[in-house]
Parts: sequence; structure tokens; C-alpha cells
Amino acid sequence: MTKFRTLDDLTDISGKVALVRVDLNLPMQEGTVTDLTRVHASAPTILELADKGAKVLLLAHFGRPKGERVSTQSLSMVVAAVQGVLGREVMFVPEIAGPVVAQSIGILRAGDIAILENTRFWKGEEKNDPELVKAIAAIADFYVNDAFSAAHRAHATTEGLAHVLPAYAGRSMEAELKALEAALGNPARPVAAVVGGAKVSSKLDVLQHLVTQVDHLIIGGGMANTFLAARGIDVGKSLCEHDLAATVEEIMAAADTAGCTVHLPYEVVVSKEFAANPPSLRVCNVHEVAADEMILDVGASAVEALADVLKTCRTLVWNGPMGAFETVPFDAATVALAKIAAALTREGSLVSVAGGGDTVAALNHAGVAGDFTYISTAGGAFLEWIEGRELPGVVALTI
Ligand code: 3PG
Repeated sequence: MTKFRTLDDLTDISGKVALVRVDLNLPMQEGTVTDLTRVHASAPTILELADKGAKVLLLAHFGRPKGERVSTQSLSMVVAAVQGVLGREVMFVPEIAGPVVAQSIGILRAGDIAILENTRFWKGEEKNDPELVKAIAAIADFYVNDAFSAAHRAHATTEGLAHVLPAYAGRSMEAELKALEAALGNPARPVAAVVGGAKVSSKLDVLQHLVTQVDHLIIGGGMANTFLAARGIDVGKSLCEHDLAATVEEIMAAADTAGCTVHLPYEVVVSKEFAANPPSLRVCNVHEVAADEMILDVGASAVEALADVLKTCRTLVWNGPMGAFETVPFDAATVALAKIAAALTREGSLVSVAGGGDTVAALNHAGVAGDFTYISTAGGAFLEWIEGRELPGVVALTI
């Protein structure tokens, strides 16, 4: 288990300057923030530090401005949203280091909160430039990283600062690391992983790592078609990466060696066109897909069989939907399996951890996100973590 300092290790911080790395890379439409999950995730850390009297300076990136000041990517645009969640006034500072930040600190009282400008407006952020790190650190007493979802980036504010200031994990970072440790670090067995999504090619490293870690690997989504085709099944005109047949065989062989059972759908929902409730929709055995049909979801009997697998498991890691869940009725397998996982979690027989972009949307759609043991706010960082990689932002916090 990774060891790191937490906010519990911070005492006497009244009047001290805290640099707190959060993830404010928020979805926005026409200037309005459309999802506040990440702000809610870091709110406990920000409020705890403010309530203990620290002057809290929030550091975050927004988009990928590549070292230029881009007005549409200024963090001034999220200030109102953050104030709304925190229920406190938040100052905006249009710099991340230097005299303007120093002056602002002079104005801030103990317990006040400010958001500094988008860290990626400075080229040194992504280069993890020691000069920039030094300049940012100069005005602070300590550093808190509460942005697990940016911890796969070795940037000045996600990694560099942890080496030059006393560094602590925020509450959200702490919760993420505990949940991920419970899921794959030292999990209760048997462990199942559900991996879905469109393409095997985008999750090769995930699959290769998971077969060595879990007892059951349940494959859904478009990537299941690639597995089925590699096993000689005609998947018609389904989304399929035929050129990955050899890679799929390697993954299956690695699973075999590691004692991991790979579950592919044996019954599927097919249609001639990809549209909501298409007239050509039917359910069939995987061996009966016609040349002009495509597989768009896992069939209900196959989901029941998967439910039986989950009932034998103690831990579940979930990434990616089981079918084309954004289009009705191809959300059925994702919703049904998610509900089963949620019920087992409520009963106390399963620890369920989910993460990754589409996954959170799919579980919200199924109405069960609140019932999972833990849902990660991270996209890329969650994937890298289930690939078994070390995340530089986490390693830098390790003591
Ligand atoms: C995310 O949105 O997943 C994180 O904030 C990381 O953003 P990035 O992929 O632009 O580094």
C-alpha cells in the first residue's frame, strides 16, 4: 500500500499559504459548466483547509492551451461554478507565480480561497520545468494534491511541486487511492473486471494487465466482437478490428496461463441498422449473426450468466459499457449488469469500483452510480492505473 501524508498530518496552518492542485478541467457548453462532479470531489479538501485557517490557492488546468494564454480557456470562467459548490466567495488571480500572486496573498485573510489562472498557459507546466516549479512554490508553505484524475501527468503542478514543498494527499486523492487499492492492489477474491467500449486497440494495455490480476474478465461492447471474430465467429458487419486477431489470441493465452476466465457474450442483440428501436432488431446466438447484421448489445440470457459470475465474486472493477448504451434499447445489458452489481454492493457481498469517461455516464444512465462502492472521477488516469502503471503525481506524494 502506498504511504502518503494526508490533511490529518497538517496542524497549525492558520494564515499559512496552501497550494492545492485540483482538477477543474470541467465540461463546458457555451460558457456554462455542465458537470460539477470534480468540484464536488475536491470541495471537502478546500473547505477543510479554509476552515483550519489556511489561505487556499487552487491550481488547475483547463483544456490544452499548450503554453499560450487562450481567453476561452481562462479559469476565470469556472469561478462562479466553484463559488456555487463551495458556498464561499472565491477570488480569481490571473497568474500562477510572481508579484501578482504575492500581492493577492497579502489581500487574502486566513480561510480565504482563490483560483489561480490555468496552469497550462505557461509552457513550463507540461515540461515540469524546475524554474516554474520554484517560482510557484516560492509563495507557499505547503502543497496538497487532490487531483487524482490529473496524476498521470508529470507536470509542474501535478508532480514537480511535491518535491519542493511539504506534500499531502487531499481527501479526494486519498479516497481514490484507497478505493483503487481495495479493487486491484490487495482485493478480496474472486475479482471480476468488466471491460467494454468500442475498440480493443484503445484498451490493449488494460486487457493485458487485467488478465494477470483478476479471476474473471467480462468483455462487452464493440471490443467483444473483435474477440469473437478472432475465435472464428462471423460477426457480420459489426464494429470489429479483424487485424487484431493475433493480439486477441495472445491475451487469451495470457489469461489461460494466469488462471483468468474470459467471458464473451454467447447471445447478442443484432440489427441491420444502428438507430433507436430499429425494426430489424433481434436477439440471437453469436453463431447466427447474418452477414448484413451488426452486434449492438449483449443478450439478456448472457447477462444472466454474467450475473451468476458476479454473484461468486467479492470485488469488481468496471470500465466501459457492454453495448451501444447511448441508443435505446442497446443500453439494456449495461443497465441490467450495473443494477446487479449495485444490488450485490448494497447487500455487502461486492466491492465495486468503476471509472473512465463513458463508464460514469453509463452508470448514471443506469441510475446506480450512487450504489457502487466507489466511482472514480478520472478518465485517462483511471485507465493508466488499471493498466498497472505508476502515476507520477501519486508516486511524488509517496513517503
Ligand atoms: C482529464 O480531464 O481527464 C484530466 O483533467 C486530464 O486532462 P488531460 O488529458 O488534458 O491531461
